[in-house]
Amino acid sequence: MTFSEQAERELAAILARYPEKRSALLPLLHLVQREQGHVSPAAMEEVARRLNLQPVEVLEVATFYTWFNLRPVGKRRLQVCHNLSCTLMGAEGIIRSLKEELSIGEDETTPDGLFTLQRVECLASCGTAPVMQVNDDYHESLTPEKARALLTQWRAAANGK
Ligand code: FES
Repeated sequence: MTFSEQAERELAAILARYPEKRSALLPLLHLVQREQGHVSPAAMEEVARRLNLQPVEVLEVATFYTWFNLRPVGKRRLQVCHNLSCTLMGAEGIIRSLKEELSIGEDETTPDGLFTLQRVECLASCGTAPVMQVNDDYHESLTPEKARALLTQWRAAANGK
């Protein structure tokens, strides 16, 4: 795996901030994900090489956090929380509605590559349940209707409307 020139500059800036190289592991994994959309096994090996870590140490961290996509995902990663507060406030209805609307199951990506649907653990926004994280944004106090409206908006944006 190779980084773009821009990513190499960011990587150097990140490494300069951490006297202990291994402390740069999370920022580097985020950089890889920004660069490639997911964190591949080859990228984990490269990160391990840059930080003088064993690949398994990188794998352990990358698989611990739900932030990281370990395989290619759609342009928008729809992560719906299904823990207690969100379930009580209707998360299952939202997941069902998204499945129907997108014609995909959980952990699947639409054929056009626009959306990946995932069920996730608590997103730490229980007071505004139900919650869906889409890439870096939170959509709170969601309803199936609001979720469908978001899909319409994102599809239109993808089609340049
Ligand atoms: S239970 Fe859904 S954000 Fe905490």
